[in-house]
Amino acid sequence: MAVDIQSPWRIGPVEIPTRIVLAPMAGVSVQAFRRQGRRFGAGLVCSEMVSCAGLSHGNERTLGYLRIGRDERPLAVQIFGSEPEVMAEAARMVEDAGADIVDINFGCPVRKVTKTGAGATLLEDPHRACRIVGAVVAAVDVPVSVKMRRGLGDGSRAALDIGPRLVDAGAAALTLHPRSAKQMYTGTADHALTAELVDLVDVPVIASGDVTSRARAQTLLDETGCTAVMVGRAAQGNPWAVGEIAGTGDGEPKREEVVAELVLFMRATVQELGEQRATGFLKKFYGWYLGRGRFPKPFKQELVQLATLAEVEERLFAAAPAAADVLARLEGELPAEDDVLLDLPISIYGGG
Ligand SMILES: Cc1cc2nc3c(=O)[nH]c(=O)nc-3n(C[C@H](O)[C@H](O)[C@H](O)COP(=O)(O)O)c2cc1C
Repeated sequence: MAVDIQSPWRIGPVEIPTRIVLAPMAGVSVQAFRRQGRRFGAGLVCSEMVSCAGLSHGNERTLGYLRIGRDERPLAVQIFGSEPEVMAEAARMVEDAGADIVDINFGCPVRKVTKTGAGATLLEDPHRACRIVGAVVAAVDVPVSVKMRRGLGDGSRAALDIGPRLVDAGAAALTLHPRSAKQMYTGTADHALTAELVDLVDVPVIASGDVTSRARAQTLLDETGCTAVMVGRAAQGNPWAVGEIAGTGDGEPKREEVVAELVLFMRATVQELGEQRATGFLKKFYGWYLGRGRFPKPFKQELVQLATLAEVEERLFAAAPAAADVLARLEGELPAEDDVLLDLPISIYGGG
């Protein structure tokens, strides 16, 4: 029988209301992105990958990734590293900060990460990978999941070898993005491998890669037996894709909705990162929101060149005046700020 995208499932004891997981994406998956994803129908959201060494050294910017709101839960925080003990310590901090799930990154293909023995490299070092999972599982009470690529080289089937071993080591769920590390984002995700992994393990498998529509999501659920699908690039500047997959919208927003969501996202990002960091961070989002034929191309170029976010907002409202009312409604529906911020334990910020 076909799986209902709107039906709940579990990772360990954590109940997840829908079959849609918002992907962890470095430089994208800030709290504002995760909250937006939940509003549009994602059942589970993930932080971007957080360096376990950065957490362990008390690096202020890394610790900032542990800012978790009640309204984004259930939330997985993803950590990466290569030393079991440091990963275990980082996992404890993640749990203290209020994450529902600790996710471990065995998929990052970027050289800066793989050269330290972390990320996708661990797919070909099963012994160490299992030691990391075992140490993290022993350190926390929340469930631990692992996100993998298929392997390092093209055609690799390493994920099928290591997946069941990671489950034996205590992983409560596996996500597979069935491209090789070498492929980066080229070619297509080979979800025949996802189906094979599903047959090999008795924990939920989440399928990641090229999920862009409800039809694609349903086909993957039906044909691979995966428990949930993950949406990444399709959701960049495009929460309406999540809505379409969830079955709550047609994926085609009006111009004023696009502007209202973008301005809401900008304001939330300023609160999160501060005005200066947010100004640079947001530039890539303008193209993502305004592209897809929604606004003429030069409009994005114009926004990127403006010096302040106040000017960007002004230009956006001038281009879609009806957005002000939509934004007021959206802001009115948000939970009050003191309802959503968890108090971080003082130890997380080293008291400072
Ligand atoms: C900009 C960007 C950053 C990413 N960062 C992470 C990350 O921090 N951790 C991770 O496990 N995967 C990361 N990924 C991979 C995605 O989670 C996902 O597996 C991949 O993009 C395939 O899914 P998609 O086709 O839906 O985008 C990243 C992908 C992109 C495009």
